Amino acid sequence: MATGKIIDGKEIAGQLRRQLQEEVQSLITEHGVTPGLAVVLVGNNPASHMYVKMKKQACADVGITSFAHELPEETTEEALLSLIHTLNGHPAVHGILVQMPLPAHIRSQRILEAISPDKDADGFHPRNVGLLAVGAPLFRPCTPWGCMELLRIIGVKPAGQSAVVLGRSNIVGKPVALMLLAENATVTLCHSQTRNLPEIIHTADILISAVGQAELVRGDWLKPGVVVIDVGMNRRASDGKLCGDVAFQEALPKVAAITPVPGGVGPMTITMLLKNTVFSASRCVA
Ligand code: GUN
Repeated sequence: MATGKIIDGKEIAGQLRRQLQEEVQSLITEHGVTPGLAVVLVGNNPASHMYVKMKKQACADVGITSFAHELPEETTEEALLSLIHTLNGHPAVHGILVQMPLPAHIRSQRILEAISPDKDADGFHPRNVGLLAVGAPLFRPCTPWGCMELLRIIGVKPAGQSAVVLGRSNIVGKPVALMLLAENATVTLCHSQTRNLPEIIHTADILISAVGQAELVRGDWLKPGVVVIDVGMNRRASDGKLCGDVAFQEALPKVAAITPVPGGVGPMTITMLLKNTVFSASRCVA
């Protein structure tokens, strides 16, 4: 499934989704189980509404039932916990996703810890974070897993390579560093306090950037032949267009392969969410 120098995340995600659709069909016909994903959204964040709409559509496309719970901004932490407990016990729900960020009066960590680790389609529960850290993952977080799938599908083997990760978030930077380490890369994890960023980035055979700063990484920082996975989703100040963390046009002549923004990592994130949901449903019939 090779792609050209520009990694077509949309095409790769489409192929994976067609495979998932077949798995869903066989779960339904052979076991009478339709995978179900509960999607919980609290408040009015426009970006969150857009993501949730995309997730529900993606579920429908592959035959997963989605259970949408759209709650008002003023929802209490207790009310949200109560909904999660109900979903934890609901037999038709195999995966639960609470869209982040939550309103400020709700403690996100408390919510993530309330989701059953056996229905944790986002892989954010501390148990699943711990399992990933010890090299025995159950549910993997979707964006980092999508990055690793892109590398695998284009034939990049991390073992022995220098992998530089930009950003130390719980959602992307930290877990993708663990996944690269599990594949025997030599991993450097950079963040806002890192000194000599251009020099460190110049050592990378694989660069994964997830800092959310428009075109921070310049073409002349890159080692020729590097593979770049750009998780950034930013608006360029000059023209308001979507762009990544890496200056794409400058990078293109230097890289062996690079993900575009949009159309790179984005479509993979939702695909991995679907994969986690189908995996969870398949555990029920095993
Ligand atoms: N907000 C930004 N990314 C994510 C994600 O992967 N999952 C959830 N639930 N919320 C997010």
